[in-house]
Amino acid sequence: MNASCRHCTHPLSPFLDLGQMPLANGFLKAEEFSQEYFYPLICGVCLNCNLVQLMTQPAPEKLFHHHYPFLTQSSKAMTHHFKALANSLLPEIKSLPDPFVVEIGSNDGTLLRPFSENKIRHVGVEPSLDPAKISKERGVSTLNTFFNVKTAHDILQKEGKADLILAANAFCHIADLSGLFEGLKILLKPDGWVIFEDPYFPDVLTKNSYDQIYDEHVFLFSLLSIQKIASSHGLTLVDGEPLSTHGGSMRYTLCHVQETQPTPRLRSLMDQELKLKLSTFAPYQSFADQVHSSKDKLRDLLIKLRSQGHRICAYAATSKSTTVLNFCRIGPELIDFICDSTPSKQGKFSPGMHIPVVAPNYFENPDLKYALLLGWNHQEEILAKETVFRSRGGQWITYIPEVRFL
Ligand code: TMP
Ligand code: ZN
Repeated sequence: MNASCRHCTHPLSPFLDLGQMPLANGFLKAEEFSQEYFYPLICGVCLNCNLVQLMTQPAPEKLFHHHYPFLTQSSKAMTHHFKALANSLLPEIKSLPDPFVVEIGSNDGTLLRPFSENKIRHVGVEPSLDPAKISKERGVSTLNTFFNVKTAHDILQKEGKADLILAANAFCHIADLSGLFEGLKILLKPDGWVIFEDPYFPDVLTKNSYDQIYDEHVFLFSLLSIQKIASSHGLTLVDGEPLSTHGGSMRYTLCHVQETQPTPRLRSLMDQELKLKLSTFAPYQSFADQVHSSKDKLRDLLIKLRSQGHRICAYAATSKSTTVLNFCRIGPELIDFICDSTPSKQGKFSPGMHIPVVAPNYFENPDLKYALLLGWNHQEEILAKETVFRSRGGQWITYIPEVRFL
């Protein structure tokens, strides 16, 4: 397969073929099975700029739908995470004359809301209709559109340049990377900051969390790749902050000023990244080997438990789980059902493997002996809520970083 880097056009090196994949959020009804859409999910890397990216992408009209099923406010942990970020930024923003804050991919307005409550001029850019609507209802000024050079110009004309541009789990979804970074360059004040966070590729490597690879995650960034992309658009990476969200993320800070010195924390994180030798193919090859061995182990374990006659369910029908279930060929013959708190997923079937998705109260079934934790990145929140399962002898199964009982 010939594909070139979305940033520097250098040829991509494919390293992990996850097979034919349905859309990660394509939960469906039984009558829709025959028209289900599949595409080849292959992950590659550009050894020139270190950018890890999908080799192919599903047709864009298949991807963004009005009813994007995830609302930030539905996760307590994420709500808390964004409140803490807003609160850490507010004092400095409030000290500026007539400050202006933009968020790219603002979802239901959870991160911008504290700015709105503090009467800070702001705008969120959110392409999915339902979250954008909810965000407006919550008092957050929102544009229901994609962010690109045109949107940057539109905002600029109406509101002027931004002191702060925020984004969380948004940049890795935007295939038009050059439109995104040009937009940032246009919209950011000379002394403004861009702060964004996304799943961090070195964490994917060390945790073997290959389920971060799915249609919506076009890119898996590292500090090295972001540094190169930012500098090619006249922006400078000045800080990195490791985060535990989404199973391992990085918060990047960019500014215009080329002379700004990187923080000592960024220097040390970059040193750690250099040790991974991400400009060579070897780490990607050994990652792919580990992923295949994880698949064999997970299948073997589930097949063994099933042959002993146990009922097994899964917990949290996450986007990531579509990659795991389809790559490992885990269907209803191994998993009875998936419990999930999102009403729009309940009563439907999981993409590709067609496991029924049911409400969390099904988890109270005393016959359940084993539960596959698909929402491993929400482990703390889920285990704290489901203590009864363990107290009556239930066992959790994870596959991150390796297949084992918790
Ligand atoms: P995501 O990781 O793709 O955003 O999906 C998270 C899914 O996990 C979402 O459908 C809701 C579900 N979930 C639960 O069912 N119970 C929980 O306690 C948590 C935190 C999430
Ligand atoms: Zn490249």
